Amino acid sequence: MNDDGYHVPVLLNETIDLLINKEIVDHVVVDGTLGGGGYSEAICQRFESFGVKNYLLICIDKDENAIRYSSERLKNFSGNIIFEKGNFADLKMILSKHKIQNVTGITLDLGLSSYQLEKEDGFSFMRNTTLDMRADKDNNLTAAEILNNYSENELTEIFENYGEIGNAERLSNAIVSYRKSNQFSTTENLTEVIDSEYSIDKKNRIKFLAKIFQALRIEVNGELNDLNKILNDSSELLRKSGRIAIVTYHSLEDRIVKNYFKEKSFKEKKSKYGNSSTESNSPEFSLVNKKVITPGYKEISENPRSRSAKLRVAEKL
Ligand SMILES: C[S@@+](CC[C@H](N)C(=O)[O-])C[C@H]1O[C@@H](n2cnc3c(N)ncnc32)[C@H](O)[C@@H]1O
Repeated sequence: MNDDGYHVPVLLNETIDLLINKEIVDHVVVDGTLGGGGYSEAICQRFESFGVKNYLLICIDKDENAIRYSSERLKNFSGNIIFEKGNFADLKMILSKHKIQNVTGITLDLGLSSYQLEKEDGFSFMRNTTLDMRADKDNNLTAAEILNNYSENELTEIFENYGEIGNAERLSNAIVSYRKSNQFSTTENLTEVIDSEYSIDKKNRIKFLAKIFQALRIEVNGELNDLNKILNDSSELLRKSGRIAIVTYHSLEDRIVKNYFKEKSFKEKKSKYGNSSTESNSPEFSLVNKKVITPGYKEISENPRSRSAKLRVAEKL
């Protein structure tokens, strides 16, 4: 499989430009979502083009395939890279294993790689595969397990909270009825239950299925917990002037990042006389981009998967 076949990186230049603070000399950067190595490669190339030789890049992915593929792709930079098959939520532990106290940059490009969507099982409703959805195949929980074993209320909560599906009870009820005489094992089992319960036109059907698959994937992979965990650890793990750059692909993730950065950064407060003053709330970060960055028309037309991407970057004070 060629480079572009694994994954086309989204908002690549925008992310790397803002991630690397040029005022820092000794760089120790974490790519917490290695995927096909597009970001990592660009980070190494950027350092080399600045003439920086003495940098360290820690590449983490919970998917063994990403580690295998990218360690081959990045072999020219291997002297400057540590590869870790693991969860970015465990960054503190990973760094302490390598006796690294703090870092100058953390980047996360959340969600799935194209490889996972197209070649691994369960992530896409466009292909009939087993209902797996695990990015980390060492974990036990699969989407099939959830559909076959979670209570009706638990299913409703997942579809409501992680898929933002209205009247999610109807969906969970259809799932529970199906499993009285069947077991969920393939993506088609699930799409058939949905198609027999709802009659919706093609465009809305795709949107609805995407929400359902998103909800299950978030539950299987503990995605929001992982994001909250690394955000909460980031202030302690970043050196002064170090940066964290996060690309999200749906509103649940973006809301978490946006609120966290807002809460931890300076707040401009207008007094009743119209003067601007700074609240003294012992901020830990400042926002690098005040306005969220999204892909332009060209990127979206060349890579439609980029259309929902949002980049936010903050700097440790
Ligand atoms: C969108 S892809 C990243 C693409 C990458 N930026 C590139 O340029 O190729 C997301 C990757 O993050 C990984 N991932 C998602 N959540 C993770 C987590 N909590 N810990 C480690 N890896 C994670 C996925 O397995 C996937 O390979």
